[in-house]
Amino acid sequence: MSLSNSRQRYGLVARSLHWLTAILILSAIPLGLYANSLPYDTSEALAAKARVFSLHKTIGVAAFLVALARIAWAVVQPRPAPLHPDRRAESWLAEVVHWSLYLSLVVVPLSGWVHHAATTGFAPILWPFGDDLPFVPESPAVAEAAGAVHWLFTKVLAASILLHVAGALKHAMVDRDATLARMLTGREAGADGPRHGRGAPVIAAVTFAALTAAALSLPQGADAIGRALEASPAATETATAAGNWQVVEGALSFGVRQMGAEVTGTLPEWTADITFDPDRDTGNRVAVSIDTTRLTLGSVTDQAKGGDFFDVAAHPIARFEADILRTGDGTGDGYEAAGTLTLRGVAVPVVLPFTLTIEGDLARMTGQATLDRRDFGMGASYTDEETVGFSVIVSVDLTATRR
Ligand code: HEM
Ligand code: HEM
Repeated sequence: MSLSNSRQRYGLVARSLHWLTAILILSAIPLGLYANSLPYDTSEALAAKARVFSLHKTIGVAAFLVALARIAWAVVQPRPAPLHPDRRAESWLAEVVHWSLYLSLVVVPLSGWVHHAATTGFAPILWPFGDDLPFVPESPAVAEAAGAVHWLFTKVLAASILLHVAGALKHAMVDRDATLARMLTGREAGADGPRHGRGAPVIAAVTFAALTAAALSLPQGADAIGRALEASPAATETATAAGNWQVVEGALSFGVRQMGAEVTGTLPEWTADITFDPDRDTGNRVAVSIDTTRLTLGSVTDQAKGGDFFDVAAHPIARFEADILRTGDGTGDGYEAAGTLTLRGVAVPVVLPFTLTIEGDLARMTGQATLDRRDFGMGASYTDEETVGFSVIVSVDLTATRR
């Protein structure tokens, strides 16, 4: 039994790689669809969804590595000639679909992996390579774009597989020739016929573009791309509504343990109204309005925005109103903002300790507070702390200039 290809046969290596790829891809597709469709309304449901996603990603990464090996092997090996070179249109179509398959075999798992590497938390890949990819930053915008590409090209891949399998079955059942047997058993068939046409990659690119456009025209495709375009880089948009300090730069983030891993979220859009005079002890105040619809929380952003957690549809704005008080003996840089945080309509007393340094007209503050999500009725059905931690660490860093 020969390992390598000839112009009449597929060798053992090419056939093994072909069927291994087919098994992995045909497992990854239903797992991806199933994982996406699973609910996540309780701790148990979320844990089960994460397990299926982990399996999907692990199989997907395996498919990617096998596909790379398969492509490398195809490059150095002769390709068996078509059995009916006289049927030009059919040979071209088969060729075009092969190219489309090869392209999708790279784009689909790679975009999935980039999506995964750009987000934090939820459903790890079970291979021991780590979850990150070099050159892929943790960024909601990158994750959103990669997710849209992944969604889109799974449709291109699925359409190519349907055409490919239909062709293989037509050869086996209508033409009753050895095309399928060549790939299944390594049987030799055909003559050292003409080489594959050189124009195929060009036609493949056109077909690929047409399939992509068709997938894009599906409502979910347009939606996915729209969301990707909307997801601006994690810019911190702050403005000062009133008060005597103007926030020029700032970041509001929060961290929570999820499925045993630390996940960091951002709230990039907020305004702060600060009235503060370091020389007086009373009358110093801050009022912060936070746009919760812009929050990000790694790969579980949608869940975090949902009714169980921030419930952004019903409560798009969170507010923190507090008095600014000096702590310690009143001579250091220790302060606290003591007031009320209203989140998803629930008002809870919150004290945020922070340090403040003022140099001329420039003030820098950094502070952290630990909240309990249950105080705000968040994730009430997630009673298991292992799945979604109860403590949420809120961090604020900002620089402001005196008006
Ligand atoms: C060739 C391999 C792969 C195939 C065929 C595949 C296929 C799919 C399919 C069919 C879906 C469901 C899309 C929908 O609901 O319409 C999906 C979703 C997803 N896949 Fe893959 N996938 C592959 C590899 C990967 C890899 C390697 C990763 C990550 C390491 C990954 C991560 C994801 C994620 C995170 C989703 C959910 C996307 C979202 O909800 O925005 N996939 N995949
Ligand atoms: C589901 C994932 C699949 C992928 C990604 C895939 C991919 C490919 C690719 C890229 C080739 C071209 C090989 C080359 O000449 O370099 C090929 C050949 C072939 N595949 Fe698949 N395949 C899949 C599934 C299947 C299935 C399910 C069947 C059978 C029903 C099949 C039957 C064949 C046959 C018969 C050939 C040889 C065609 C010829 O000699 O022109 N494939 N496949």
